[in-house]
Amino acid sequence: MQPLKFKMQRLTSQIKRAIALLNNDDVIAIPTETVYGLAENVHSEKATSKIFKLKNRPSFNPLIVHIKLLAYLENVAIDIPDKAIKLAETFFPGALTLVLKKQTTIPDSVTAGKVTVAVRVPNHPVTISLLEQLNFPLAAPGANPFGSISPTSAEHVYTYFKDKLSLILDGGICQKGLESTIIGFQNNQPILYRHGSISVEEIESVIGKLKIITKNETTPDAPGMLSKHYAPITKTFLTSDVNELIKKHFGKKIGLLLFDQKITGATILCQEILSTTSNLEQAASNLYSALHRLDKLRLDVIIAERFPDAGLGKTINDKLERASK
Ligand code: TXA
Ligand code: MG
Repeated sequence: MQPLKFKMQRLTSQIKRAIALLNNDDVIAIPTETVYGLAENVHSEKATSKIFKLKNRPSFNPLIVHIKLLAYLENVAIDIPDKAIKLAETFFPGALTLVLKKQTTIPDSVTAGKVTVAVRVPNHPVTISLLEQLNFPLAAPGANPFGSISPTSAEHVYTYFKDKLSLILDGGICQKGLESTIIGFQNNQPILYRHGSISVEEIESVIGKLKIITKNETTPDAPGMLSKHYAPITKTFLTSDVNELIKKHFGKKIGLLLFDQKITGATILCQEILSTTSNLEQAASNLYSALHRLDKLRLDVIIAERFPDAGLGKTINDKLERASK
């Protein structure tokens, strides 16, 4: 264990390096409370195209702009609906992304040509400190190749990109472990584009009923909500009856992803229990790391248990559905 003083010195020098790289049109990895991101200066066309290349991301899929404070929202967006302001005041900094009409200063390359921009204020001390020392926002998609499981640790990012990244700022394990919740607006009416770390119930308690459009490859307002996403390489199934699927796959190398209890009596290579105390927040924060571990075991199948359909259980089911497509 390094003494805190040395850790802080190291971090300060890593942030200095990050600033130099970002000023030089480079891409680095940053920690956030949700997942790790690949970050770049929002105004650098060169770095934006590097991100799309690194991630192998389709060019129609826009990036999220990360700002340091709620007060900067107006530098990025215009005509902000009242309900968006209410949400920002409640959840910024935090795991909420708002899709708003963009300011002309936000390049089309970041928004994939759209007139809207996705924006959030991340809540991680390392990235807050970095943003405070920059005079531009950071465009940052998840630090994973397109379609694969999101990274919740610096090691996950390194496994994906190895030496293709000049720097990975290590901020430890992501506390929330699931992406931000994305809310957009049509005629001032709020729409959920992506389930995330803030539950639908929490959002609705602030602004009332949400329209939900999270499963669509064709709605121009919600690109990137592809039905297959967050996917392990191993064939994955989502089910309410784990025992039945175990029987069906008898003789195969099986890994289980379970909410709160082990399955007894079956010969299973690995069982990942996401929360022994049936806590959905804890389960959410463990989900991707458990999927990463299972995916490394060269199993024939991963069988995941369907979660209770409320609060973060909805988000977890949504991610598992996309993982099992
Ligand atoms: O938690 C998060 O949001 C993480 C961390 C790094 O902040 N970022 C993240 O970015 O999940 P990414 O690129 O993996 O997901 C961004 C999503 C995509 O589904 C994209 O289609 C959507 O945001 N998006 C971005 N701009 C949009 C826009 N103008 N309209 C609708 N959707 C948009
Ligand atoms: Mg992503």
